[in-house]
Amino acid sequence: MQLFDVYPLNDITIVKAQGSYVWDDNGVQYLDMYGGHAVISIGHTHPHWVRRIEDQLNKVAFYSNSVHIPIQKELADKLGKVSGKEDYQLFMVSTGAEANENALKLASFHTGRKKIVAFKKSFHGRTSLAVAVTDNPAIVAPVNETDNVIFLPLNDEKALEKCFSTQGSEIAAVIIEGIQGVGGINVAEDAFLQKIRTLCDEHKAVYIADSVQCGYGRSGKFFSHDFAGVNADIYTMAKGMGNGFPVAGILIAPHIKPKHGMLGTTFGGNHLACAAALAVLEVIEKENLIEMAKQRGMYIKNRLKTVDGIDNIRGRGLMIGFDVPPALKDLRKNLLHKHNIFTGEAKPNVIRLLPSLAVNRKQVDEFIEALQEEIAEMKNPQPKEEAVK
Ligand SMILES: Cc1ncc(COP(=O)(O)O)c(C=O)c1O
Repeated sequence: MQLFDVYPLNDITIVKAQGSYVWDDNGVQYLDMYGGHAVISIGHTHPHWVRRIEDQLNKVAFYSNSVHIPIQKELADKLGKVSGKEDYQLFMVSTGAEANENALKLASFHTGRKKIVAFKKSFHGRTSLAVAVTDNPAIVAPVNETDNVIFLPLNDEKALEKCFSTQGSEIAAVIIEGIQGVGGINVAEDAFLQKIRTLCDEHKAVYIADSVQCGYGRSGKFFSHDFAGVNADIYTMAKGMGNGFPVAGILIAPHIKPKHGMLGTTFGGNHLACAAALAVLEVIEKENLIEMAKQRGMYIKNRLKTVDGIDNIRGRGLMIGFDVPPALKDLRKNLLHKHNIFTGEAKPNVIRLLPSLAVNRKQVDEFIEALQEEIAEMKNPQPKEEAVK
């Protein structure tokens, strides 16, 4: 049987991973400044995470949500403590799209309304509502098309005010990434998030903070929305939550009340997923990784500023982007194939850095040196030895 060929692949097979490094089937070591797509939070195969999953696997891996699963409550308590949202409620799912799907659905149940405000360059996932609020027509199937979504420019307070003044009574939710990831590392301004909070309060709409990529400590705060000093009504989480174990969830403010049957899923909150998620939070706490993300992020940005040839360095914590000029369009490819360094991208010309929150200075230096060397080489290619002879 063939695999359904939807992913453009690098010709690399990863067989081993540890911390911020991965190895291919030829034994070549790569530095992972991409965190396996922002997923690796505490470092690949962290021993505490491995042990926690193994221990759980030997007890019970899965039983359905029809019985008590005490480890879910244990996770909720720990998450409340680490995120500071202790009075919120946790609903667990398995992927980022599913988290947003449930958040949007819940907002609609809660308000009895249909309209959603989303932003240009947003990415919220590929399930039907999640893709409908994603600003990329190429991945919206005809069946996902809807008139219920209003796209506004990011950080445009006037446009947001106008939208609420004309349609406020119909708006169920505003959904926004604190830092747009796929869209190219665009930071939502604090004042803009504060404006969303105010307008949602005035019009009784739900503020959904998509924290799938910018959450879980990556920005240097637990949720990047925390920089604005406001609380969202629903936070969606995935990627870093399981450090590679598929686990996701939504945090729901206390005023949104549950009803039996309102939401549900088979796999969400299974024993093994909770064990993985607990291990992640325990390591985040023990190794002070949110502060580390802040410090390392500043260090990377300061070092990037000294690199000639890249523009517009931006982001927060360990969610960093910079623009690559057309002359260096192969930079990311060359970093991978010549220097064995994985980075992320955002089309058309952004390199995204999303390393593990535990990335160390030596690894950052390794990356910066390779970046400098590669840019110098691309700007001024050295003749090959044979050619010189
Ligand atoms: C901000 C954001 N939301 C949602 C998603 C979708 O997550 P998943 O691929 O786990 O469905 C992503 C994935 O990249 C994302 O970056």
